[in-house]
Amino acid sequence: MNSVLRSDLLLDFLGNLKRTHYCGALRVSDAGKPAVVLGWVARRRDLGNLLFLDVRDRTGIVQVVFNKETQPEAHDKAEQARSEFVVAVEGNVVQRQKANPELATGEVEMNATKLHILNNSKTPPFPIEDQINAAEETRLRFRYLDLRRPKPHANLALRHKIILEIRKTMDEMGFIEVETPMLTRSTPEGARDYLVPSRVHQGQFYALPQSPQIFKQILMIGGLDRYFQIVKCFRDEDLRADRQPEFTQLDLEMSFPRQEDIFRVIEQVMVRACAVAGIKAEAPFPHMLYKDVIRKYGSDKPDMRFGMELCEVTSFFPPEAKEKLQIEGNVFALAAPGAADYSRKQLDELTEKAKSLGARGAYFVKVAAEELNSTVEKLIGSDNVKKLAEACGAKAGDLVVAIAAKKQIKGTEAAALIAGQLRLQLGEARGVIDKSQWKFLWITGFPLFEWSDSDKTWVSAQHPFTGIVDEDLEKLETAPWEVRSKGYDLVLNGYELGSGSIRIHRQDIQERLFKALGLSEEQLRKRFGFFLDALTYGTPPHGGIALGIDRVVMLLAGEKSIREVIAFGKTTAAQDLMAESPSEVDKVQLDQLGIALKEHSKE
Ligand code: AMO
Repeated sequence: MNSVLRSDLLLDFLGNLKRTHYCGALRVSDAGKPAVVLGWVARRRDLGNLLFLDVRDRTGIVQVVFNKETQPEAHDKAEQARSEFVVAVEGNVVQRQKANPELATGEVEMNATKLHILNNSKTPPFPIEDQINAAEETRLRFRYLDLRRPKPHANLALRHKIILEIRKTMDEMGFIEVETPMLTRSTPEGARDYLVPSRVHQGQFYALPQSPQIFKQILMIGGLDRYFQIVKCFRDEDLRADRQPEFTQLDLEMSFPRQEDIFRVIEQVMVRACAVAGIKAEAPFPHMLYKDVIRKYGSDKPDMRFGMELCEVTSFFPPEAKEKLQIEGNVFALAAPGAADYSRKQLDELTEKAKSLGARGAYFVKVAAEELNSTVEKLIGSDNVKKLAEACGAKAGDLVVAIAAKKQIKGTEAAALIAGQLRLQLGEARGVIDKSQWKFLWITGFPLFEWSDSDKTWVSAQHPFTGIVDEDLEKLETAPWEVRSKGYDLVLNGYELGSGSIRIHRQDIQERLFKALGLSEEQLRKRFGFFLDALTYGTPPHGGIALGIDRVVMLLAGEKSIREVIAFGKTTAAQDLMAESPSEVDKVQLDQLGIALKEHSKE
């Protein structure tokens, strides 16, 4: 293995040599023409008198032939070429005697007259092709090599096209792109801030924005009327496949909007973004209330590409059965098509899964053609078993899964949320999710607050600038859990794509809300004084939304992780393995900032 650079190789200069064609662009119509291609050696096959180099650039691959008899000098040079060497090839395009249907350029090849080796390369740690087994860590560490593979490359190109289309669409609708500061103060979006120490003002810190929320609202006070921005946001939170510490939003805000106006703008954006990826999306998108999606799908981001809706079946559990099973709260059930033949082991696994999510228990009904067979028949009686199966719309061959749970999760019945997770798992296992569909959904009617188990207090379900339904305003201090917000989410195929709201535009209401969240007069002056002041100078009613661009591109590219559509993504431990960040800094730098590290943080 050639793991070091070869020092004996005489490298050529590019000089005045100019590309005539991209490798992947050559076609039969080019046969007979001279060509110069520039790129990397993807593969080399030496058959003695004939030597083949596959040369790759960002458009694809072309086969180049070096003939020892007709072009001995070029052939000799090609013998030195290895994988990932950078080359310039001069030659003639010819039609191949036997076409290669696997390659877009498969009907032609180049007969080389001259080869220039412009640079050499160590042997890459994984092959530069789409099907590789390399661990994701290796791919991230050598991302520059990973990016040479066709798929990552195509993903970045698609991302570019989608963002371009979004900018065009927003411009056509009269929105102006405005940049807001990156070095700023904390904007609460429910995560921790990334802080940047100030050298000039020692002991003081900027916060990187979790979103441009306050600035975009101030732009409305500033009379901008329609703002948007493709913007980086920073959040120090637990990472998952669809979350990164820095990510990109399409952020927008409008003055004097009705909720429908914002929906129409986003629908235009999404329909056009989908079209870029060759996907036909239908607008307007349907709406559902938050309480209905929770009861029907057990999720605030339901995957609507399949049914298996939940059904509340508490009434089929008589009081004695409930006592025996220690059921408190409602029982939610669903029917998994064709799963009546699940084995004892499979049912135990489902029970374990439900329990690991916090369920008290999982109960099953197997629906055969003639009879019903249930794990709780003795306790609830055959009549109730039958009614339960009917209520779920179960057919012969189906398995009914019922979930009981005591606790609430963020003020929502845990049984519904757990049944919702099983719905996804069973939907996938039963193969009932139609992957060719694109199901958008608007969700409205969110509660303004949710209960935080960790903080033992009510917190904003979205962020503290979310508008309050007019009729619910009077309950803000007396019954906060009943207050509904003017917020909305956009969901696609089980992913939250975006979130927004009509805002609070009156200073008195904003101040009441901060106080309802437990902020003292002093705290709210310190954190939000400038914003509360701005609200007192004729703030128009306004509202907006932000879409996660990485998630949009991930879904349209058919990927499962946003890391696949971000040029330099971070691991779930928030590290950039290539640039090796975060990293320690010199003591001199810390001294300039007036920072001393505690002993344990150096570990
Ligand atoms: P929210 O916090 O819901 O709303 O964010 C909007 C959208 O941004 C995406 N997103 C993320 N994408 C990748 N990694 C993350 N860590 C991450 N966090 C959020 C999601 C999400 O739906 N200021 C409000 C918007 C508004 O009210 O106008 C906001 O930021 O797709």
